[in-house]
Amino acid sequence: MYTKKVMDHFVNPRNMGELENADGVGTVGNAKCGDIMRIYLKVEDEIIKDVTFKTFGCGAAVATSSIATELVKGKSIKDALKITNDAVVEALDGLPKAKIHCSLLAEEALHAALWDYSKKHGIDIEGLEPPK
Ligand code: FES
Ligand code: FES
Repeated sequence: MYTKKVMDHFVNPRNMGELENADGVGTVGNAKCGDIMRIYLKVEDEIIKDVTFKTFGCGAAVATSSIATELVKGKSIKDALKITNDAVVEALDGLPKAKIHCSLLAEEALHAALWDYSKKHGIDIEGLEPPK
């Protein structure tokens, strides 16, 4: 049911944990399954220097958070915003249909963390919507 990539990121998650002195923190939850995902960002000169996550949720949510941190690390804010849940699913070589919402959580958590960063630092990020 799960691809090798999903299993790898679930069993051996990358960038897991809290980031001390994070510049932005975003927490989102899925009301239906009750899963919670939090993303921590360190931003310098509009570049995401470091990113970690903490996820209380299913294996697919852990895997999507893990791969999402890999995808955005070292990217500019502008490029990080282009990473959608589709890109996350693709990077995992696919997810079962019932687990697509888990990847949406990763996109939402990243955006929420960027929003938090922008508010705390008085920066406007073009195209970024406030978290729901
Ligand atoms: Fe917990 Fe299914 S919701 S095992
Ligand atoms: Fe809800 Fe995975 S089952 S985030």
